[in-house]
Amino acid sequence: MKVQPSKLGKTVIITGGNRGLGYECAKAIAAFDQDWHVIIASRNHKQATLSVKQLVAQTGNRSIELIELDLASLASIRAFAKDFAASNCPPLHAIVCNAGIQIVTRTTYTKDGFESTFGVNHLGHFLLVNLLLQHLVSPSRIIFVSSGTHLPNEKLNHLINIPSPKYCNARLLAFPESACIEEDILTIGLRRYTTSKLCNILCAYELAHRLQSQGYSTQQQPITVNVFDPGLMPGTGIARDYNSIQRFAWNFLLPGICLFVPYANSTNKSGKNLARLILAPEFATVTGKYFVDLQQVRSSKESYDRKKAAELWQTSAQLVNLAPDETFDGIKENFAVHI
Ligand SMILES: NC(=O)c1ccc[n+]([C@@H]2O[C@H](COP(=O)([O-])OP(=O)(O)OC[C@H]3O[C@@H](n4cnc5c(N)ncnc54)[C@H](OP(=O)(O)O)[C@@H]3O)[C@@H](O)[C@H]2O)c1
Repeated sequence: MKVQPSKLGKTVIITGGNRGLGYECAKAIAAFDQDWHVIIASRNHKQATLSVKQLVAQTGNRSIELIELDLASLASIRAFAKDFAASNCPPLHAIVCNAGIQIVTRTTYTKDGFESTFGVNHLGHFLLVNLLLQHLVSPSRIIFVSSGTHLPNEKLNHLINIPSPKYCNARLLAFPESACIEEDILTIGLRRYTTSKLCNILCAYELAHRLQSQGYSTQQQPITVNVFDPGLMPGTGIARDYNSIQRFAWNFLLPGICLFVPYANSTNKSGKNLARLILAPEFATVTGKYFVDLQQVRSSKESYDRKKAAELWQTSAQLVNLAPDETFDGIKENFAVHI
């Protein structure tokens, strides 16, 4: 962690900022203040290049760029961190862990052999954030985008048949073939998704705790870590693995119906809310909290399980081969150099 040297502008990295919620968040931050340099971290070079052009045109902020990142590849995540370190970007003040997938028709694996939903939604962001810690400049904010689908007793989840998360241990989530599951593939896929969203919360709370307890985040020089639930946002790309009838409903029917559902939001509204968690002074020192829209609320009981969070953290570090000097030890070195 470094101390802000002077007014040099600020960088925010947004994973999956090329479309959906991430795009709207990028737009809101870029439009808020031309001092913000926005990095769209995307695996999709062609589409993200167009998104960057469109963002520049819509916001007038020319300081928006693409750096390629595939969260389904540990090598790509490490290359992203190197590219970022070698770039001439203004100091890093915010990371938005937004990218996400739902796979409901089959089991797929990341380049390193982890089940994709867990691999991309949790493990990829876990490694990315750890590698970027040493580049953060206080005050800074990290947001993990989770989902209300992680709540086991939520009425809406029962109504639309979303299965509750099932967290046994991280290794089983990474290598589910060792588990004997007798469920249809749709339920398995959705359960993997809700469990990955629980992992986002466990991981965020654990990181907030580690940063505070090891003295890297203080009231005077905060590095905050919070979780955002954007609400139901029909029409986004998250449902692209559904069958054609379900996709039709998601893209064309639900957006209309959702005008009357309290928990539903447009990507534009949620993107602005997500941006506010990065920008608004009132959240500057708030850490380890869960937000629905901009309301601070409790997440599920399981998400506060410190034992599960510690096990998830330790196993994730082993799975991605995280070396001590890539993460907290790296911050220590920087801390010594810059204080
Ligand atoms: N939509 C909802 O109702 C809803 C509700 C609650 C929470 N959320 C959460 O909101 C977040 C954004 O979702 P969305 O609804 O905006 O969906 P979306 O339109 O599909 O956006 C997801 C983004 O993640 C990116 N992504 C997927 N796999 C990636 C990978 N391997 N490497 C890098 N980027 C990758 C996608 O990139 P490509 O364009 O390359 O595919 C896309 O930019 C997710 O975390 C989701 O869980 C959504």
